[in-house]
Amino acid sequence: MKLSDLALSRHTVKAFDPTRTVPQADIDELLALLRYSPSSVNSQPWHFVVAATDAGKARLASAAQGPFAYNQPKILNASHVIVLCARSEMPESQLQALLDQEERDGRFQMPDARANQHKGRTSFVDLHRYQQKDLQHWMEKQVYLALGTLLLGAATLGVEATPMEGFDFRTLDDELGLRESGYTSLVLVSLGYHAEADFNARLPKSRLPADTVFSYV
Ligand SMILES: Cc1cc2nc3c(=O)[nH]c(=O)nc-3n(C[C@H](O)[C@H](O)[C@H](O)COP(=O)(O)O)c2cc1C
Repeated sequence: MKLSDLALSRHTVKAFDPTRTVPQADIDELLALLRYSPSSVNSQPWHFVVAATDAGKARLASAAQGPFAYNQPKILNASHVIVLCARSEMPESQLQALLDQEERDGRFQMPDARANQHKGRTSFVDLHRYQQKDLQHWMEKQVYLALGTLLLGAATLGVEATPMEGFDFRTLDDELGLRESGYTSLVLVSLGYHAEADFNARLPKSRLPADTVFSYV
């Protein structure tokens, strides 16, 4: 199938079949996609929490109450749910951890490569921290790239998904102890297979016309 056919045929699941489980091999593929997702200056300012058990999903669902109750069944009835989290800061320890990893992975083949990489990455981080003053927003943008990769990747495997921003961030951060670890939750992705009751499976895709979305120079 063409990639664009998959993009057209995938849809946001509004009701999951609670009896179906995504095979572990597919989950492993999707986690690899998250891990290998690109990020500006290879900053990787993310963490992913995976709920594969009923108990884990119940913990996540505690953040989908009140105004967000419409999302609760999509968490509880999915096969797996992933919490995509962004760093809330970019400390020097993380910059050093990135350098150490790049070194282990054989990225520094010239004498000054490590120092130059550190200088370049730090100047980019400081640009967002001190000049543009959008460091948090910039880190979150990197996580959303991973979200897009995950959603398209799921479609290629025949795994269906629901991205969700409709939940209480503070409740989920507290439940998972994210803020103490320097992270905050951004978006949930439920994975599984749609149920008969999923009205969205029967609706046509709707997107703005190509001639309003693209222009050519
Ligand atoms: C970042 C993001 C947050 C979303 N939040 C929710 C949500 O909380 N609940 C929900 O049912 N759908 C949510 N959606 C699904 C969108 O409504 C859906 O992607 C959009 O209407 C396009 O439909 P499609 O995904 O079926 O092509 C979200 C989508 C994205 C990308």
